[in-house]
Amino acid sequence: MCGIIGYIGKSQAKDLLIDGLRRLEYRGYDSSGIAVRDNGELCVLKAKGKLDNLIGKLEERSFSGTCGIGHTRWATHGAPDELNAHPHLSRSGKFAIVHNGIIENYKELCDMLISQGYSLRSETDSEVIAHLIELGYDGDALKAIQKTVKLLKGSFALGILCADENALFAVKKDSPLVIGSGEDGIYIASDMQALLSKTHEFLLLESGEMAKITDKAEIFDFDLRPVKRQVYVAENDKSDADKHGYAHFMLKEIYEQPEAIERTLLSQGELSFLDGIGSIHLIGCGSAYHAALMGKYIIESLTGIRVHADIASEFRYRNPIIKPDDLLIAISQSGETADTIGAMNIAAGKCKTACIVNVPLSSLTHVAEPMYTYAGPEIAVATTKGFTTQLVNLYLIAAKLLSNKGDSRVNELMTELSSLPLLVENVLKTVSPVKLAFLLAQNDYAFFIGRGADYAAAKESALKLKEISYIHADCYPAGELKHGTISLIQKGSPVIAIATDKQLLSKTVSNIAEVKSRGAFVIAVSPFDIDACDALIKIPYAKYVAPLLASVATQLLSYHTALVRHCEIDKPRNLAKSVTVE
Ligand code: AGP
Repeated sequence: MCGIIGYIGKSQAKDLLIDGLRRLEYRGYDSSGIAVRDNGELCVLKAKGKLDNLIGKLEERSFSGTCGIGHTRWATHGAPDELNAHPHLSRSGKFAIVHNGIIENYKELCDMLISQGYSLRSETDSEVIAHLIELGYDGDALKAIQKTVKLLKGSFALGILCADENALFAVKKDSPLVIGSGEDGIYIASDMQALLSKTHEFLLLESGEMAKITDKAEIFDFDLRPVKRQVYVAENDKSDADKHGYAHFMLKEIYEQPEAIERTLLSQGELSFLDGIGSIHLIGCGSAYHAALMGKYIIESLTGIRVHADIASEFRYRNPIIKPDDLLIAISQSGETADTIGAMNIAAGKCKTACIVNVPLSSLTHVAEPMYTYAGPEIAVATTKGFTTQLVNLYLIAAKLLSNKGDSRVNELMTELSSLPLLVENVLKTVSPVKLAFLLAQNDYAFFIGRGADYAAAKESALKLKEISYIHADCYPAGELKHGTISLIQKGSPVIAIATDKQLLSKTVSNIAEVKSRGAFVIAVSPFDIDACDALIKIPYAKYVAPLLASVATQLLSYHTALVRHCEIDKPRNLAKSVTVE
């Protein structure tokens, strides 16, 4: 997803902007650019592709000035090329803007500008913002920005420069943006992670606010009423932004799971939002949806409370049935996923809402009671510790609901949860899927199967393999394969079967035999010995948390498979860490 950086202070802006863009790379991008105010003129430089291309171009140009903005673009409207890269200049060059989000009414705004004699240089929705600010400018930049934001529909985090003023402007509506005050000046960025090497003190803009930053940050609402905001001091450890000797952030974060799970187990509060509820809606995107799906199986099977698991982008547009005593829990590592926020907004006011998020004070926590995971900053685009700590919170929710019912199984569940860090440690120490990864890496497709919570684990495992090794991995409920897909099974077809549930084991073993008889190569992930498979990834037995353990095992399998295929594991092509647009 797009990344924004901005700076104003006493130091030269150029290098600080590049450093900030470097720390935003993990969000995913396909072009980049910076603009610096140099003696009343806005100088802009942009480049297609990786940040090194921009740095190479910078070496050919002198870029001085102590106020600037920068951007890494993840293309939504317009090709990923230099023309569409940000920053975008207004017609006269008086304003430069960087944008994260989508302007939904940009076509009508384009038409209005063209009718007033403007011509657009790029294919982006963002460029209209720069022209609109100039159109509304009569010497007061903040006022011109305010007039402009009133015209925009959609989501936008903006960094803005004005040639006439030594000031940095920031605007936030739905998309993420923070203000950080360092020793050498004041920064804006899409997330705190990008600034932790400069400061731990942040002013967190709310949606519908803007700021004018000089040697201080003045915050206003969209009617230009001043807003007072407490400084938030982030505890994040700078070291999280370092690989500590691991080859990839993803591998580091896989191995951080025992401590991340332990922190999450020890840090939970009263969970009072669970009192007096009817049914539960769990919503999320991608891996967060897979956590929601597993949460459905876990909570329903233990507590008898109805749980609906929905993909957020589907939930928000299918006119969902929400009852007043329902509880909606949005699950999101970043707390910034546009579809998940959109789905949350559908439920707001209709039922109780909560969110399971990893990033402190992220947008979702402004609209729902947070139940944090304590995974620490997750840099790799493919989530691992973010996912398993979401599952921990879902197990804790099941335990709290059991406790509310006076069900004694809560003790057994809590005892098993207290040993979860050690169980995960055991998986990390005993599972070594390198040989299997080598075999799997030779294929361009793979099938994952499982039943019940193992089906959710299989879906997450398939996504992990897909997103970092580019192998087309599909997932099916184990009982579903024979209803069509089994026609694709041929000699050597790789099938990964997750079988951790004793009650369903014999059924899954039958499904393994079905595909085996058609030539499949079956890798089972199970605490049980399964003769029918070709290879077994053995995990520890656990009554409740075995699907989580299986997910850790397949994280390692996917990681090593991607390694064999020389893929860019931490920043897979086309992917972004946080999808802040629909
Ligand atoms: C997970 O590996 C993916 N990177 C992606 O599916 C992610 O889970 C999804 O985009 C949701 O992100 P969130 O948890 O930050 O809302």
